[in-house]
Amino acid sequence: MGAGIRILVVMLAVAAAGSGVVAQLRRDYYASVCPDVETIVRDAVTKKVQETSVAVGATVRLFFHDCFVEGCDASVIVVSSGNNTAEKDHPNNLSLAGDGFDTVIKARAAVDAVPQCTNQVSCADILVMATRDVIALAGGPSYAVELGRLDGLSSTASSVDGKLPPPSFNLDQLTSLFAANNLSQTDMIALSAAHTVGFAHCGTFASRIQPSAVDPTMDAGYASQLQAACPAGVDPNIALELDPVTPRAFDNQYFVNLQKGMGLFTSDQVLYSDDRSRPTVDAWAANSSDFELAFVAAMTNLGRVGVKTDPSQGNIRRDCAMLI
Ligand code: HEM
Ligand SMILES: *[C@@H]1O[C@H](CO)[C@@H](O)[C@H](O)[C@H]1NC(C)=O
Ligand SMILES: *[C@@H]1O[C@H](CO)[C@@H](O)[C@H](O)[C@H]1NC(C)=O
Ligand SMILES: *[C@@H]1O[C@H](CO)[C@@H](O)[C@H](O)[C@H]1NC(C)=O
Ligand SMILES: *[C@@H]1O[C@H](CO)[C@@H](O)[C@H](O)[C@H]1NC(C)=O
Repeated sequence: MGAGIRILVVMLAVAAAGSGVVAQLRRDYYASVCPDVETIVRDAVTKKVQETSVAVGATVRLFFHDCFVEGCDASVIVVSSGNNTAEKDHPNNLSLAGDGFDTVIKARAAVDAVPQCTNQVSCADILVMATRDVIALAGGPSYAVELGRLDGLSSTASSVDGKLPPPSFNLDQLTSLFAANNLSQTDMIALSAAHTVGFAHCGTFASRIQPSAVDPTMDAGYASQLQAACPAGVDPNIALELDPVTPRAFDNQYFVNLQKGMGLFTSDQVLYSDDRSRPTVDAWAANSSDFELAFVAAMTNLGRVGVKTDPSQGNIRRDCAMLI
């Protein structure tokens, strides 16, 4: 490489850093230390999903919560210890399903079982790869992931406050919370389609199906089905499918459901009720390839939120569930 070209490369790197691009994340980050990491993770995740398909939604939601609280740094995986209440034990009762954690722990164990790879791959990156893999296994798009995140050095319940969207949010509230994470309204609409898989507890939509006041934006037949399935309104032990039509397929049915008044949360249905986001819902309900392109772009942006790449900010945990 000539000197002139080398200077150009340096200038481009500086420009990229200045424009907020996370220059350190790269697709081939583990090429020399653990070249087969993506295959190892995919095999472990495939085994887990074959054991229980609940792992699909659980893993995808875990990734979202990880990135929105303290950045994508696996802080959500850490368990509480004697003197610390961790993120996952926030009193909101976020009910993150155990199979998401287990997917990451198993994938990391499979990676660590290869001597060259032991303690070389961060839990944050494992969660990114596992999320990509469960989505592909459920029939969604497969995509290349950026790697090189370090694991966070802390995980506290208090860090969760105000960082995650409640299901009652309207379009402006959703848009501004996602904007705080460098995500556009288009990214937010695309990412919301993760609700094409997985489960929700009755309490998260109970306010929309009160017999005396069913949310007028909800389809009446759907509301009756939900009322029948959640008789006590808020039974914490009952969880229903988020996408009642194709519950296990990662597809664009989510947007078709919204057109029919079959979004489960206020925050889902508002994407269709609000004139500003409805055209995007209609476009992605009609064209699944357009949805998939937008979803992959949005997942890539989500995976860049608050990442730690400087050794002063993070490490590669030996145990994903412990700050060691
Ligand atoms: C836009 C704002 C969002 C709100 C208000 C929201 C809210 C919720 C709520 C209340 C639940 C049910 C939790 C339960 O009762 O157990 C849920 C489940 C879920 N969410 Fe979201 N969410 C949002 C965005 C996202 C995003 C961006 C993703 C991922 C990219 C995501 C992925 C999931 C998945 C996969 C589930 C099912 C979890 C499982 O089956 O264990 N959500 N969400
Ligand atoms: C958003 O991007 C800016 C630079 O454009 C960066 O300084 C900031 O840390 C990013 N925020 C998050 C939450 O990633
Ligand atoms: C919490 O306890 C661990 C040992 O169990 C100790 O290393 C750590 O310093 C303690 N942290 C605080 C904040 O007290
Ligand atoms: C929290 O969620 C778990 C799992 O769904 C449930 O068993 C428990 O009763 C809930 N606790 C509260 C206080 O709602
Ligand atoms: C979906 O959109 C793409 C362009 O992004 C176009 O090539 C394709 O024909 C569209 N498919 C349908 C079914 O309209």
